[in-house]
Amino acid sequence: MHATDIANELAEVLHTEAELQQKLAELARQIEADYTSEPPLLVGVLKGAVMVVADLARELKFHAEMDWMAVSSYGSGTKSSGVVKILKDLDTDITDRDVLIVEDIIDSGLTLSWLKENLLSRGAKSVKICTMLRKPEALKVDIEVEYVGFDIPNQFVVGYGLDYAEKYRNLRDVAVLAPHVYS
Ligand code: XMP
Ligand code: MG
Repeated sequence: MHATDIANELAEVLHTEAELQQKLAELARQIEADYTSEPPLLVGVLKGAVMVVADLARELKFHAEMDWMAVSSYGSGTKSSGVVKILKDLDTDITDRDVLIVEDIIDSGLTLSWLKENLLSRGAKSVKICTMLRKPEALKVDIEVEYVGFDIPNQFVVGYGLDYAEKYRNLRDVAVLAPHVYS
């Protein structure tokens, strides 16, 4: 199978590359307007947020320092439980830093809610959240998200960093998989 076959595995493109980039530019302008004294440290959550961080950082007009965390949520199957284990921690001391968590998608919000508290407990000056996608119908916690790209229906999506069994992350669009892929 070749990379060019990916398109055959999609049921529907939800957001094209052009829409994603346009939205990132809008978010970048908001972020620049909000952080006037010091640029925030961008914290990307691996692996899904890699594309968002790379594109957002290059869109920003200030020095965008970035760091990464990998977390895993304990839970049954694909459902997140809110109990989180840190697989890879920050290299940066965030004491008194403004931190901007960058995510690919917020589903239940449990992971992010835990992460925000965790970073605040280390003495961060502020912790805000930027996510490319959010599923409002799936939210289980009341979590404030300062920068949201697109609200999407409660469907499993892939592309632009999001995977199904580690595949489709390199798709430029965000799409819904065709049913035949799951079987
Ligand atoms: P929460 O804690 O918000 O978890 O439930 C968010 C994480 O769940 C994964 N996730 C998805 N991954 N397509 C994906 O490829 C999806 O539609 C999807 N919904 C949730 C993702 O890892 C995210 O960080
Ligand atoms: Mg993720």
